[in-house]
Amino acid sequence: MDPHGWRPVVLVVDDNKSIRTVIEACLEGIDCEVRFASDGPGALAAIEASAPDLVLLDVQMPVMDGFEVCRRIRAIARFRLLPVVMITGRSRGEDRVKALECGADDFMTKPFERAELVARVRSSLRLKSLYNTLDSAEQVIFALAAAVEAKDAATERHTRRVAESARHLGARLGLPEPALDALYRGGIIHDIGKIGVSESILLKCGPLDSDEQHLMREHPEIGANIIAPLHTGSNLQPIIRHHHEWFDGRGYPDGLSGVEIPLLARIISICDAFDAMINDRPYRAGVSVDQAVAILRAGAGTQWDPQLVALFIAELGAIEQMGAA
Ligand SMILES: [Fe+2]
Repeated sequence: MDPHGWRPVVLVVDDNKSIRTVIEACLEGIDCEVRFASDGPGALAAIEASAPDLVLLDVQMPVMDGFEVCRRIRAIARFRLLPVVMITGRSRGEDRVKALECGADDFMTKPFERAELVARVRSSLRLKSLYNTLDSAEQVIFALAAAVEAKDAATERHTRRVAESARHLGARLGLPEPALDALYRGGIIHDIGKIGVSESILLKCGPLDSDEQHLMREHPEIGANIIAPLHTGSNLQPIIRHHHEWFDGRGYPDGLSGVEIPLLARIISICDAFDAMINDRPYRAGVSVDQAVAILRAGAGTQWDPQLVALFIAELGAIEQMGAA
């Protein structure tokens, strides 16, 4: 199921043996290991001993009901992202609400269709597989990136469009998968250093004075320092630090020029600038696509890598379609 050979573990928690057997039979077509617990305390002990990748949790059980089990799972920091699907015999709306309040990710009622169970298990395991690719520090960093976007509502969806267009250009250049992955992640978090820039500067209507400009220009270094301790950050750091370098050496923070600027940073720089130009900012309205293309052409060789500008313009149709999606 997983290209890295990951075989997920599903923990089925139900006091009724025949239900456990039915669920096991339903999961036969999914490449996973199925474990069982017959009550809440047994489930918590099993999760503590060896964390599963998904918990299918019956609501009505003696001793401790599924709601309480779910609350206790969520109370443990390292299990906050463990997917929990609650299963109940009742179809009462209040159970659904209570399940979500207890931190369940999904909810099913008995009797369930085999196809529905399989689909929900598959989708929960896909989510878990994505979580597994992020180390915990990276999860924090992505949360910080979301916080930066929240500080500046004008950048909403901006980072995702930058990420997608940068990945697209990287693929056109034939870059290997790890570089494409770095372009995507780097696109999302390239401005993470703005967390250290005050909102009065980020959201200022009108041009920044020289002190404000100086503070704004610190964001690439602040961002690079934020991700420095991250294992998976080593290929993101050059993107974050150098996304405001200019091809002619007049950018910041290090005044690098030409191919001294890391390739992935040169790609992000174009995607970032283009998306910023065509969208409104607090201090100015967005320009048309044609005007933005003209600005990119005019800046090819001074601000941006001319070959990459040409590639970006050639790929604009595909990039615009991604932005509209
Ligand atoms: Fe930036």
